[in-house]
Amino acid sequence: MAISLPLAILAAAVLIAINETGHSRSMAALSSMAQVQQTRSGVTQLLQHMLDAETGQRGYLLTGDARYLEPYESATSVIAQNLDALRGLYLEHPRELELFAELSRNVQRKLAEMDVSVRLRKQGHEDAWKFVLSTDVGQEHMNAIREQSAQLVQAAQLRQAVGESQITQALQLSRIGIALVAMVGLLAFYMYLRQTRRLQAVDQRVQEDLQRERDLLGQQVNERTASLAELATHLQEVRERERGHLARELHDELGALLTAAKLDVARLKSRLGTDSPDAQQRIQHLTDTLNSGIALKRRIIEDLRPSSLTNLGLVTSLEILAREFGERSVLSVTTNLEAVELDEAAQLTVYRLVQESLTNISKYARAQQVHVSVQNYGSHVTVEVEDDGQGFDTSRTAPAASHGLAGMRHRVEAAGGRLAIHSTVGQGTRISATLPVRTQVPRADT
Ligand SMILES: Nc1ncnc2c1ncn2[C@@H]1O[C@H](COP(=O)(O)OP(=O)(O)OP(=O)(O)O)[C@@H](O)[C@H]1O
Ligand SMILES: [Mg+2]
Repeated sequence: MAISLPLAILAAAVLIAINETGHSRSMAALSSMAQVQQTRSGVTQLLQHMLDAETGQRGYLLTGDARYLEPYESATSVIAQNLDALRGLYLEHPRELELFAELSRNVQRKLAEMDVSVRLRKQGHEDAWKFVLSTDVGQEHMNAIREQSAQLVQAAQLRQAVGESQITQALQLSRIGIALVAMVGLLAFYMYLRQTRRLQAVDQRVQEDLQRERDLLGQQVNERTASLAELATHLQEVRERERGHLARELHDELGALLTAAKLDVARLKSRLGTDSPDAQQRIQHLTDTLNSGIALKRRIIEDLRPSSLTNLGLVTSLEILAREFGERSVLSVTTNLEAVELDEAAQLTVYRLVQESLTNISKYARAQQVHVSVQNYGSHVTVEVEDDGQGFDTSRTAPAASHGLAGMRHRVEAAGGRLAIHSTVGQGTRISATLPVRTQVPRADT
């Protein structure tokens, strides 16, 4: 652009300049040619009038007929005007003006000679006018007039030829100029096209680089996401294993201790008999405390590792979970649970999903009604937990320390399913998961 645009502007300016110069030169040549034309016809007319006057004069002299005087006088009367007009035309051409002055003098002399002879004839001086006629002075003047007129016409023709050659030159100049400018314009256009193509190539290269960069970043993001998902799955598995281990420890160790303590208390109670009611009462209190301890241990174990899941199946476990939740939170919990065939991991996913949803309801929802449903569609299963609580804005990012819903989504997606959270402020929340049914892999120890 830095070269081709100024080049194009320059070409246009040169074209305009050439055109204007050619135009003004042609106009000047044309007006000079018109003047030449006027001069030529002026000279020709002058000569014609002189001839007319001479013819009239000769006719009158020879015949004495006054009718010949009419063309003579009318010719002589316009000759003066002719001369004036021609003088005006020759003012700008000094060389021709000189010639014209001579012509003018000869015309005056011829007119004077004709006037004298006519006057003498009118006055009846026969010898005198014949003498004037016989001197040949008039003839000489007339020859000189003819010759000078011819010279002036020739000079005019010369000027005309100059004008014509000027026009030809201007046309030639325009022709060459336009051809040159057209070539320069073409060159500028070619350069512009070349530059545009080069810019396009650079642009394309930049786009390709950007695309490569984007692809690389996308690939890196995908890799990181995959490794994070793997890590999250691993952490959940470790957590589940730890919880299982803790549950077993609690069951085996604490359970054994509490059972032994309960047996001892029962033995003590039977030995004490009915003699000491106070001791009996304390023993009874101890038994109740131990029972509460055992129930608490069972609940903790159940929470850590739902044994009901393996022992009683998903539906029963969810029923127990919902019933216990209803009892604890004093909410109306309804269920609609269809029998489903899911592998152990998927069952745990569903169980944990319902568990976390119920925990959230108790923490945030301020709901009256909760509905838990599991629907079996053969190829897939849907799990929904719905409440009529205060809801929340799902577009808002969850607090940094909140992992419940994110963990839920991760579990569901790791099992090949999809999780949807529908919630509107003031209109409750519905957590809905769809999981594919996979054939249960038989466990090696069963
Ligand atoms: N049923 C619900 N009713 C109203 N708000 C809810 C409900 N469930 C979730 N929320 C909102 O969604 C947010 C995120 O829930 P999430 O379970 O992910 O985190 P959390 O319960 O705050 O923490 P964490 O589960 O990690 O202990 C909550 O802080 C709460 O504002
Ligand atoms: Mg939560």
